[in-house]
Amino acid sequence: MDILGVVVTAVWAMLPAYVPNNVAVLAGGGKPIDGGRSLPDGRILGDGKTQRGTVLGTAAGTAVALGLTAIEPGVSALLGYSLPTFSVRVGLGLAFGAMFGDIAASFLKRRTGRERGAAFPVLDQLDFALGALACVWILAPAWTEATFTRPVLLAVVVLTPLLHVLTNVVAYALGLKDEPW
Ligand code: CTP
Ligand code: MG
Repeated sequence: MDILGVVVTAVWAMLPAYVPNNVAVLAGGGKPIDGGRSLPDGRILGDGKTQRGTVLGTAAGTAVALGLTAIEPGVSALLGYSLPTFSVRVGLGLAFGAMFGDIAASFLKRRTGRERGAAFPVLDQLDFALGALACVWILAPAWTEATFTRPVLLAVVVLTPLLHVLTNVVAYALGLKDEPW
């Protein structure tokens, strides 16, 4: 596969993981996952991780996976690459994994004294991608290993922070997000 094919495959395969956190920003709010509870060193997660955001984000990412699967033959034919399709299990793994990675990062932020909304460079840009890859690998190892070859994985690690910075700056400029990260 040429380099464009690697990039297209990386973005395509990660789309179900890129969507959930953005949907949570738009549709989140309400009851926090941690129920407002704290540990001795501060809130468990904080008010920025809500049940509604997590459920709707996961559902949206899974729906994206199924939508991509439906249009895959046409897109693959058009671009001349054989793009991967997603089972419900794979879609759920990517989408929930993305939300989970972000939630785990929130947990780490609170443990390191960072208030809600504080930046945690590198972790902020990669938490959801690492969560998605880990989760889908546990749920569907054969699909994950066939899809995320070394070059595709490298493209994910390079492109994800760039896409994350870009979408967050845009969301901040549009007034959808309180901080540009
Ligand atoms: N959000 C949500 N549920 C999630 C993730 C995000 O409802 N599981 C919503 C919240 O309204 C949150 C916003 O999306 O404030 C932005 O998400 P993010 O930047 O990840 O959260 P922060 O508010 O910055 O909180 P933290 O410092 O804990 O990451
Ligand atoms: Mg934030």
